[in-house]
Amino acid sequence: MCSESALFDRNPDVEVFGIVQAPIHKVWELFRPFGKENLEWWKIYETMEILPPGNDKVGCIRRFKLSVQDTIFDELLVARDDENFSEQYDFVQVEPPIPGLKAISTFVEFSPFLNPITGTETATKVRWYSYTEASPLPVKQELMAMQNKAYSGAIKYLNSAFNFSGKSKKMVLPNYAKQLSSNPTSVAGFMKNLYQILEQVHADVAVEQTEKWKYQTYENKPELPDVDLTKLPRAVKGLPHSEALDPTRQGMFFKRINEVLYSEIGIKDRFADSGDIYQAVAGRYTGETRYIIDNWHKDREFASQFLNGLNPMTIKIVKDVEEVPENMRGLNYKGQSIVDLICAKRLLMVDLPELKNVKPYKDMYTYPATALIVQDSEKGETFVDMVGIRLNDELPVYTPQSPKNRWMLAKLHMKSADNQVMQFIWHLGFGHIAVEPFAVAFHNSFPPDVDHPIRDLLAPHFKDTIGINYVARHTLISNVMPFTDKTFSTGTAQGLEIMLNAWLKWDFEASSFPRQLSERGFDREQSDGIENYYYREDGFKLWDIFGEYTTDFVNAAYTNDDDVANDTMIKQWVTEMRDPDKADISSFPENISSKKQLAQVLQNIIWKTSAGHAILNFAQFDYGSYVPNSPIAMLAPMPEGEEDISDEYLKTALPHTLDRILFQFTASYLLTEPSRFRFAGPDAIAPLEKRFPEVQHRANLRFAALSADIKVRNMKLKDAGKLPYPYLDPENLPPSIDI
Ligand SMILES: [Fe+2]
Repeated sequence: MCSESALFDRNPDVEVFGIVQAPIHKVWELFRPFGKENLEWWKIYETMEILPPGNDKVGCIRRFKLSVQDTIFDELLVARDDENFSEQYDFVQVEPPIPGLKAISTFVEFSPFLNPITGTETATKVRWYSYTEASPLPVKQELMAMQNKAYSGAIKYLNSAFNFSGKSKKMVLPNYAKQLSSNPTSVAGFMKNLYQILEQVHADVAVEQTEKWKYQTYENKPELPDVDLTKLPRAVKGLPHSEALDPTRQGMFFKRINEVLYSEIGIKDRFADSGDIYQAVAGRYTGETRYIIDNWHKDREFASQFLNGLNPMTIKIVKDVEEVPENMRGLNYKGQSIVDLICAKRLLMVDLPELKNVKPYKDMYTYPATALIVQDSEKGETFVDMVGIRLNDELPVYTPQSPKNRWMLAKLHMKSADNQVMQFIWHLGFGHIAVEPFAVAFHNSFPPDVDHPIRDLLAPHFKDTIGINYVARHTLISNVMPFTDKTFSTGTAQGLEIMLNAWLKWDFEASSFPRQLSERGFDREQSDGIENYYYREDGFKLWDIFGEYTTDFVNAAYTNDDDVANDTMIKQWVTEMRDPDKADISSFPENISSKKQLAQVLQNIIWKTSAGHAILNFAQFDYGSYVPNSPIAMLAPMPEGEEDISDEYLKTALPHTLDRILFQFTASYLLTEPSRFRFAGPDAIAPLEKRFPEVQHRANLRFAALSADIKVRNMKLKDAGKLPYPYLDPENLPPSIDI
């Protein structure tokens, strides 16, 4: 609704937004009458009537008296738009007059509100706003305060009219509050547990420390007697004094917890405003992921996150139809068969066989799911889209043409399954736990008091890794009360089992960035034809800089290959890395005998301690804080049958209790606390500044140039309304695994 008047060329003086929990046609039907019908739902009036000649149409005037005062107001219906569900009414006069009041124009606009889970229209958004001409300022301010209260109140009255029993929000929220205070996985529970861990930290660091750190194995879980968790990567024994997270680092952690706690203060109002508990948990201090909240349910967004979202590590290019599960080979995309898409180099797949024998923990569900994804283009823009999802061999294959809610449930299960694999295998497994034996062997082979160039180079890359792993061991996967037991579909023991199975196939060289990509069909030159895989694009640039950096370093530190081969400390390091009683990394090179080989080993290690972890860790809030985008558990299976499932079933399949929602939200927020150290920018590390300043300088220039490149690309993405990919920007990238 527009007006020619200059009055409306500015922002409204008062503007209130709200949600009415009823479909728009019903809300409009109730709101539309301008006269006495309003008395039935708008409970602030004692009387209201349309003045003679009395027709309820544009141009009529209503007269009303508020219940709380003897003032009589007249208002003129200026415009009413039944197609767009909007109305304008103007103040005409008031008796007794309010000195200084000249004009008030009020607008009410309704628009449909889509349920963020089901995509169906279930509620109505309301925008109620006005422009006021009054002076002096205190008079105007008093009027504005009254209007603000009146509009908010009107929205509440509209809501009451449709929720007379009061069943919905008001009954649910106290339950949420109760869960919050009683469940150990709630935010308050986090605090309690973390303080217990601090006590444990103090007990462990008080133990006598040895100069050389010792190793220990993970303990087996009684619930999985046949799974030998002692074969997981070695951990340090106890907690060496120097590795306990320092008070500043611990303080950063508690600061984040407090930020979540303080953000929860407005949860009730935010839930009342949005009707969406998943976005209501995000508050003032934590911020929210607005793009994801608005777009998570779209197929293209869903597909694109396997390239650049929470887990870019499993997607692969399909090169042969034999790779595609049999029951998916008959699918098509816009009339093109699976074989056509493979031949056109457009078919991608995310396959999660790691979950094949997993029996979900207690009341949760997960599937060894497979997603087929296609690269497509429209109007010059290339994107990825969904072809179909297979959850297991028994259930039918689901596609965008399946019944709407079944397709959504298949997508939710796919993402949740991917989350199990991402968190247990890639993040906690390869990202944290697998790097610990490297950290211990590094300390023992290049002790802090020994002057060796490799000590200088690598020290910042192991900063706080043992400390943060220690916290993870005593929280996420602890033997006493593992946080991941009731919160991840696999539960802790089976999460560790899939981690172990993946670890037993892990190889130092084969897990390098280019080899891992190549295994999945992607190359540096992008000859595969897949576009916008920013993890790959930024990753190769960063990988090359790491390579130039370690090559420059080796050239500065060693004159020739013999110098490397004869370095006794390198020999000791290699021996400890491979020793089955120590670090036990049997795929670590047997000998490091040339400058080139040493540079490559160092390049691989620096990648693993930085980018390899960061791309998984720091995407957690962006893609995991809004639970429906990437649930860590699913609470209902895909039911048998062909017919569609209800909205209600879909809702209960997602983590829907406040403790579960808050656990995932809080964990994603805590674990994305930025590091104190980066590769570029004001917090940049400069480990070679003293020993090889030229090498450091060249590396700094390269990191800064890459940072600038990524920023420009991200700016373009933002301008195009898309999400940036900031995780490999050296200004964001921590050199070590410290969170
Ligand atoms: Fe992490």
